[in-house]
Amino acid sequence: MHTPPKHPWVFKQDLTDVVRGTPPGSVVDLYNPKGKFLCKGFGNLNSQIAFRKISEDPKLVIDREWLIENMLTAWKAREAVKYTQHSFRWIFSEADDLPGLIVDYFKAKDDTAVISFQVLTAGMEQLLGDPKMTFTKVLSALTLNPENHLLLIKNKSSVREKEGLMPGQNEAITLGSKIIDSKKFRFLITGQVELACNLYDGQKTGFFLDQSMNLQQTLRLLTETSETVKILDLFCYVGQWGTYLGRKLQEQNKKVETCFVDASENALTWAKQNGEYYELSPRTVKADIIQKPQLIPDELFDIVICDPPALIKNKKDFFPGRKGYLKANREAMKRTQKGGLLLSCSCSQPLTSQDLKGVLNEAAKNENRTLTFLGESVQGPDHPVHPHFPQGHYLKMHLVRVD
Ligand SMILES: C[S@@+](CC[C@H](N)C(=O)[O-])C[C@H]1O[C@@H](n2cnc3c(N)ncnc32)[C@H](O)[C@@H]1O
Repeated sequence: MHTPPKHPWVFKQDLTDVVRGTPPGSVVDLYNPKGKFLCKGFGNLNSQIAFRKISEDPKLVIDREWLIENMLTAWKAREAVKYTQHSFRWIFSEADDLPGLIVDYFKAKDDTAVISFQVLTAGMEQLLGDPKMTFTKVLSALTLNPENHLLLIKNKSSVREKEGLMPGQNEAITLGSKIIDSKKFRFLITGQVELACNLYDGQKTGFFLDQSMNLQQTLRLLTETSETVKILDLFCYVGQWGTYLGRKLQEQNKKVETCFVDASENALTWAKQNGEYYELSPRTVKADIIQKPQLIPDELFDIVICDPPALIKNKKDFFPGRKGYLKANREAMKRTQKGGLLLSCSCSQPLTSQDLKGVLNEAAKNENRTLTFLGESVQGPDHPVHPHFPQGHYLKMHLVRVD
């Protein structure tokens, strides 16, 4: 390597020489074979990703003060796009030049908040130090009252093992005397719609905040005119899509019925509660949508959402994973009214937007339906993308009319 790498990861096999004994997670400099400085970042010889680039500035001091500065910058970037008015992703790892730090901010109506975060690299674990002290400093610098916040560490991720870190436990840390329960927290999503769920035990950081822009985009494109709207939310988790669209249609004086389907009983309990909160006549169905689609109600719906988990984790799973998307989208189309809307998402990084379009066209052919592509979207600006880190661009959505 003669020039600074563009991609923020350097693999162990690509390093010609290393300083043995450097503690994992140390801030180290990367040099070319002639000894010229290239950039600095986290080094970790316990990981296949042995170097994570942070900066090309040789004078930059990467310490706790620098971390706090970058956390403030990330907050201000979300504020600039008006995302701090509701729950949002505050820090998205490489995209915010903070490799290994994921932070979601769940904001309640009364201005209390749960800060749910994951630390996935040895370098970040060292830099963050005592999270209580670091977050208290950042919140104070933002003129937010730390007392109103609960910190929730969600470090059970298997990604930590690849860095040689101990798998962590979930842990809630209060920053003051206020009682905030992360096991039943009610928070605002976009459009000031409220949802509640168990962030403590829930998947990933407890909830999927990456759909904010897609929810807004879909609402703008809804052409629904009938008085009663039936929504089928497949892979619903705690019912974000059905509840958001249902609530917004209700505000337009529509009568809404929702049906939530997921494999997780816990998630469905919350989906039901969220639907009931807005009187959206929620029904819930526990089903493996891909293996046991016969359990999904055999009815027609006006709006169908299909938002599976990442079925393609890496390139070698592409074709088996694509089959899963095809199956799920066929089941979704079978249940979409003529003239109804299907909203199809993928959070698999290797499946491009064009690939997802191909899946939808194939599903339509199999189901003898005609599609009109009304719009497409990606993750919102609180999940920004580093210019040389394609791994960070993972979410795609297509909105189609099904005839
Ligand atoms: C990407 S999340 C969906 C997020 C949700 N749509 C939202 O916006 O919050 C995927 C969901 O699919 C569920 N799931 C995973 N595999 C499933 C399967 N085979 N059948 C039904 N649900 C499944 C998970 O429990 C999870 O709730």
